[in-house]
Amino acid sequence: MQLLQNLEWRYATKKFDSEKKISNSDLESIKTAISLAATSYGLQAYKVLIIEDPEIRKKLQPESWGQSQIVDASQLVVFCNYTKVDEKVIDDYLKLKADIQELNFDDLKGYGDFMKSKLTELPDDVVKAWTAKQTYIGLGNLLAACAELKIDACPMEGFEPEGYDNILNLSEKGLSAAVIATIGYRSEEDMTQHSKKVRKPMDELFETI
Ligand SMILES: Cc1cc2nc3c(=O)[nH]c(=O)nc-3n(C[C@H](O)[C@H](O)[C@H](O)COP(=O)(O)O)c2cc1C
Repeated sequence: MQLLQNLEWRYATKKFDSEKKISNSDLESIKTAISLAATSYGLQAYKVLIIEDPEIRKKLQPESWGQSQIVDASQLVVFCNYTKVDEKVIDDYLKLKADIQELNFDDLKGYGDFMKSKLTELPDDVVKAWTAKQTYIGLGNLLAACAELKIDACPMEGFEPEGYDNILNLSEKGLSAAVIATIGYRSEEDMTQHSKKVRKPMDELFETI
């Protein structure tokens, strides 16, 4: 299975070659893979920032535990979850669905009401945690797509979300940085690429009942 070989090949890259950039067509493929991620109800309650600007990345590095990937990688990808899911978010999704699938918007009212009953009454912190979880599926797609393209990546939680929200003006847009990834090409000097993968034995990780 090619996917398994790709997943063996990939590793969380610690040191990128700052001279090597991802081609536009590969970047488009990675973006498409993220956009095809499954999301709860299909709402895609997040936005993905692709940051290339070196100045912004320099500002973000101290908010990222000083990690070098932030400035050295070809792109920094920031998954920003919605901090609120209101009726408009749901109606916008239903309009898009009606448009693409050539359905009558009014026929989707029952489904919309169901979603609204489940989501709009939830406390803010619960909604925020729920939309943040969705972003990790997009992150998984990014990692798999990069591995297939032989592009290196590092998924990262080692950053201060508040610092990112301030620098990128996310709060005023109803967004918050949930998880990030750096993508590009490994440096020959990155010793991590030679390390064996550390994974629990299969019989410890899995149980069939
Ligand atoms: C959500 C998440 C957050 C992570 N945060 C960081 C990080 O901030 N910095 C880093 O160098 N690696 C980070 N990693 C990489 C993990 O340490 C790495 O995936 C794990 O040790 C397994 O190694 P492998 O991905 O090379 O197989 C993160 C991984 C995940 C999935």
